[in-house]
Amino acid sequence: MNPLQHLVTQAQMDFLAAQDVAALENAKAQYLGKTGQISEQMKGLGKLPPEERKVQGALINAVKEQIETALNARRDALADAQMQARLNAEAIDVTLPGRGRGKGGIHPVMRSWERIEAIFRSIGFDVADGPEIENDWTNFTALNSPENHPARSMQDTFYIDGKDGLGKPLLLRTHTSPMQVRYARHHKTPIKVIAPGRTYRVDSDATHSPMFHQVEGLWIAEDISFADLKGVYLDFVKTFFETDDLQVRFRPSYFPFTEPSAEIDIAFGSGPLKGRWLEVSGAGQIHPTVLRNMNLDPEKYIGFAFGSGIERLTMLRYGINDLRLFYEGDLRFLKQFN
Ligand code: PHE
Repeated sequence: MNPLQHLVTQAQMDFLAAQDVAALENAKAQYLGKTGQISEQMKGLGKLPPEERKVQGALINAVKEQIETALNARRDALADAQMQARLNAEAIDVTLPGRGRGKGGIHPVMRSWERIEAIFRSIGFDVADGPEIENDWTNFTALNSPENHPARSMQDTFYIDGKDGLGKPLLLRTHTSPMQVRYARHHKTPIKVIAPGRTYRVDSDATHSPMFHQVEGLWIAEDISFADLKGVYLDFVKTFFETDDLQVRFRPSYFPFTEPSAEIDIAFGSGPLKGRWLEVSGAGQIHPTVLRNMNLDPEKYIGFAFGSGIERLTMLRYGINDLRLFYEGDLRFLKQFN
């Protein structure tokens, strides 16, 4: 083999041996670089007679082209291999089922909350919102439960470290009733409002949860009577449960902030709960002390309030027997309401 032909073979082998781009560029320099073998050959041309020089020059050029071709082929091969390696490493299994976008739904308790708001709005009630972290004056004292009053232990709760700006102890509100005082102190009479929201107690079993929802109702005017409370509540439960076949009874009870006080029971005229009295709410006429804490004159104003458990109403509406189902996040349960 003539030496020029040998050079091509040698270059092809060196290029093939290069396993990456850097190695290939090194190999290239040995042949096509400034001090590479092709340059060396070119330098030798000057010593040849003109006739031979022409022939030899053409040969060298042909060899140079072959080496360049080999170089480019190897460059392409290395680039392909690199791409293949990346594709393998970043492989996506297109046969896997997609995750999709789950469709959200409204929680049954929220669904009741929204229904309650809509029903009371339709009969002229405002809807108000208040803090879940309350001070003990608004949650208890203003509602006629003085410090150390035994009624406070009926509503044991979670206290927060630290005090509010006025130095009052902070706690998670045990009921929505503090909203009676907050709202009445900042609005003009007559007052007609509901205040739905989260409440907290140290309580946990099939019918009690440490966090639950209540809706407070408050109506204060100069010329209303207990009959108005009864009428509004009867109307509310009939609309909420979507039946006229339903009775309401007010059973005497005790709350420090109402006098007289009552528990409201309802009984369905049909369905699985037919004829059973079911407790749904506390209620009563606002105690004169509470009216004074609202900066209202008890001689002039009369007020009625109720506080109903939203979980309780929801359980009765859908026939759910365990409150804990609401908070387990089990989609098999939740999906049934959407
Ligand atoms: N706040 C009372 C409770 O949580 C319910 C209630 C509200 C009673 C308003 C009377 C008037 O048990």
